[in-house]
Amino acid sequence: MPNPGKAKNGSAIDALDLLRADHEKVKSLFREFDSLRGIDDEDERKSELVDEICYELTIHTMIEEEIFYPIVRDAIDDEELMDEADMEHTGARELISQLEVMYPGDDHFEATVSVLGEEIAQHIEKEENDIFEAARAAGIDLDGLGERLSSRKEELDEDLSAPPAPLDALLPHEGARRAPRAPN
Ligand SMILES: [Fe+2]
Repeated sequence: MPNPGKAKNGSAIDALDLLRADHEKVKSLFREFDSLRGIDDEDERKSELVDEICYELTIHTMIEEEIFYPIVRDAIDDEELMDEADMEHTGARELISQLEVMYPGDDHFEATVSVLGEEIAQHIEKEENDIFEAARAAGIDLDGLGERLSSRKEELDEDLSAPPAPLDALLPHEGARRAPRAPN
């Protein structure tokens, strides 16, 4: 898989560009889901989209929480902004964990995707407007950070794409989604 943290010429991509590309990807998945709302024939595609949304958001929130947020929190003087971002991730994780065991046709399936999409859109807007700007103004080494985010992303992608451990067979909901679950 190509390294998303490297441009084709091998030069580094800055951390904010990498995170922004993740945001665009997930927003386009939500847009596609939205275009299929209410169409029963598209249940299979809707299910795939939700798997992909949960997967992308899980990896993205993990690299932000493990690497990006702590560095920004240290560099800027705005605990409230960072605390709110953390709480928004917690809220998103809650909806993701509900969606992991839901299917098209289930009660509130489309509504849950739609609420998650709205919350994520607001979170992204605040992140790009406030947190990204603060990170840039604080003089953080964004190329070095982009490198770290990119390699952690690859690692998580490998871990989370690995075949499920045998313990998964014991899950109470037979056939539950295999989308990754972020650690607390
Ligand atoms: Fe983000």
